[in-house]
Amino acid sequence: MSHRLALVALVAASVVEAAFERNLAYSSPSRRHPTLAVPLAHVSKRQTGGVFTAAEVNFTHGVASGDPYADSVILWTRLAPTTESVASELVPEGVVPIYDGAEGAQVTNKAACVEFRIATDLPLTNVVDHGRAYTTSDVDYTVKFEAQNLQPFTTYYYQFNVCGSDKASPLGRTKTIPAKDQKVARNINLAVYSCANYPEGYFNAYANPVHKDSVDYVVHLGDYIYEYKGDSAIANRNPQPDRETYSLFDYRARMGSYRTDPDLLASHAKFAWIPVWDDHEVADNAWKNGTHNSVGDVFRKRKQAAVRAYFEWMPIRQVAMDDSLRIWRSFSLGTLFDLVMLDTRQYDRDLTVLGGIAGIGENGPEVEKLVDLQNRTIMGFAQEAWFYDQLRQSSARGAAWRIIGNQVVFSRMVLGGILGDRPFNRDQWDGYLANRDRVYQTLADGKINNTVMLSGDSHAAWVSDLAWLGKRDYNADTGAGAFGVELAGTGVSSSSPLGSKMPKFAANLLSKWLVSQNPELQWQDLYYRGYFEMSIGYEAIEAKFFGIPDVTVRSDDEVLLARFLVRNGENRLARNPTVGGGQAKSGALKNGKVG
Ligand SMILES: *[C@@H]1O[C@H](CO)[C@@H](O)[C@H](O)[C@H]1NC(C)=O
Ligand SMILES: *[C@@H]1O[C@H](CO)[C@@H](O)[C@H](O)[C@H]1NC(C)=O
Ligand SMILES: *[C@@H]1O[C@H](CO)[C@@H](O)[C@H](O)[C@H]1NC(C)=O
Ligand SMILES: *[C@@H]1O[C@H](CO)[C@@H](O)[C@H](O)[C@H]1NC(C)=O
Repeated sequence: MSHRLALVALVAASVVEAAFERNLAYSSPSRRHPTLAVPLAHVSKRQTGGVFTAAEVNFTHGVASGDPYADSVILWTRLAPTTESVASELVPEGVVPIYDGAEGAQVTNKAACVEFRIATDLPLTNVVDHGRAYTTSDVDYTVKFEAQNLQPFTTYYYQFNVCGSDKASPLGRTKTIPAKDQKVARNINLAVYSCANYPEGYFNAYANPVHKDSVDYVVHLGDYIYEYKGDSAIANRNPQPDRETYSLFDYRARMGSYRTDPDLLASHAKFAWIPVWDDHEVADNAWKNGTHNSVGDVFRKRKQAAVRAYFEWMPIRQVAMDDSLRIWRSFSLGTLFDLVMLDTRQYDRDLTVLGGIAGIGENGPEVEKLVDLQNRTIMGFAQEAWFYDQLRQSSARGAAWRIIGNQVVFSRMVLGGILGDRPFNRDQWDGYLANRDRVYQTLADGKINNTVMLSGDSHAAWVSDLAWLGKRDYNADTGAGAFGVELAGTGVSSSSPLGSKMPKFAANLLSKWLVSQNPELQWQDLYYRGYFEMSIGYEAIEAKFFGIPDVTVRSDDEVLLARFLVRNGENRLARNPTVGGGQAKSGALKNGKVG
């Protein structure tokens, strides 16, 4: 290289480095962890190829927003010379791919320049923040801005464009949350999701709240992607890559593939999301030291790849730069509620049952011997301490509700009969008894009221009073003695051997059995895929569970399966006169009718 060229490159590099700064994807998830971020100096030094022209790049995967605060929100897009994700083996300090690392778009020395604008109106005339940054192959051409200077509980519209060009992304809409001390003037509505298996069905559940424009925010409890190959015979669609994911390329390509789904894209474009992961964002039945089919170094690299791709592709914040795996975080929505998003899966979870139907997996007997250990934890002690503190602080500040975004079902689940009261799924909180006791103890000690546990993971719906069975008397008819409620939703499309693959009457018979054997379980449904919505007010929360009749076709059909009320101060499902108004469209309802 001539001196003159070197000098040009050097000057360009210093200019460019600052221009990368505002793209948060470079700290995916943490700038301080060499394997989990790309050093900006390294990136800008390599950008000797200049900047892509507008004709050379496209907004390939729509727009998204998430992690709303009262004054800021994360905006996401991808501006790339290809729809393909970027190969991993050339990514500096990236993970070593397990499969053929030559796949995917290659790392290049050219940057894409992107600008964003966010405004209070359409067509984006009253702009309140704007910015510019570069993106490169190092981060799979993803772009994450924090839009700032926003007003609380306000709707905004945003759009990206190629710098100096009118080539623009689709329009996005988003909303900030109320300021922490703000009295919220109206109910806040959420759509709550889990378990969206792309090959197993269409994402109608994501689209319906978009059509209805029925919610303020979307909460996702995990299993946003699936790592395994899946059964494309169900809905005749298959995500990339065509195999189980291990490498950084694999996880990026899987994310990108899911993000071609028009219903998922529509939800991202219209609502601010608050997501957390469950196991399948890494791999089935993950725990802190492995998954059902990966351990040791393979697991470590796989998890790094999965986590990095997740943070590149999701519109979320990294709340603790020194804690690379931390996704647990919380949001204060005025004095109405605190939303505490837990990671009961990847952060620091002790050994779980691996493979097979949970509880009778290959190591079932080994786990069975551990379930009573006092030092066993589903989330790690650091997160536990933080969680209990969040509950106490939220109660002390007088927020009306504590809403906990959690993955696996919290309430005890037994089959009864010859199996008696032995929980059958140790992969859920039933496998971490001391941890669950510590949660109840915290609620009891602090006299903490109005706790609502949200759960996913199970591909079935479970609505329960939070009953500390064996420790505090609980009356299943009146709900007396309960600490709050659990709303556990079914999957967006993920199938369930006991449910979606059965005739409805047979699935409902099984639900009836489950409801009869579990005192705190008030409604249960195995048959439907779907989601639920919550309308949260100071006086009460209403939850509506929606079932999607057929996920093998794209359609906006849905059935209101059941609705529940939780009144402020009652710490149980409202009986009006019985739970769910005595009526549900499917499943089984304690003291109620189905049909
Ligand atoms: C951008 O999108 C257009 C329209 O779909 C397509 O023709 C073009 O090939 C794309 N360019 C790139 C670089 O992906
Ligand atoms: C976790 O994995 C490492 C490396 O494979 C191993 O040395 C360690 O014993 C494992 N720890 C547990 C608790 O299984
Ligand atoms: C948990 O407690 C058991 C029984 O007291 C003990 O054997 C085990 O080593 C402890 N595990 C940890 C990680 O401290
Ligand atoms: C929770 O409700 C009970 C019963 O109304 C009340 O005694 C207690 O003080 C409440 N807890 C807090 C923290 O306000």
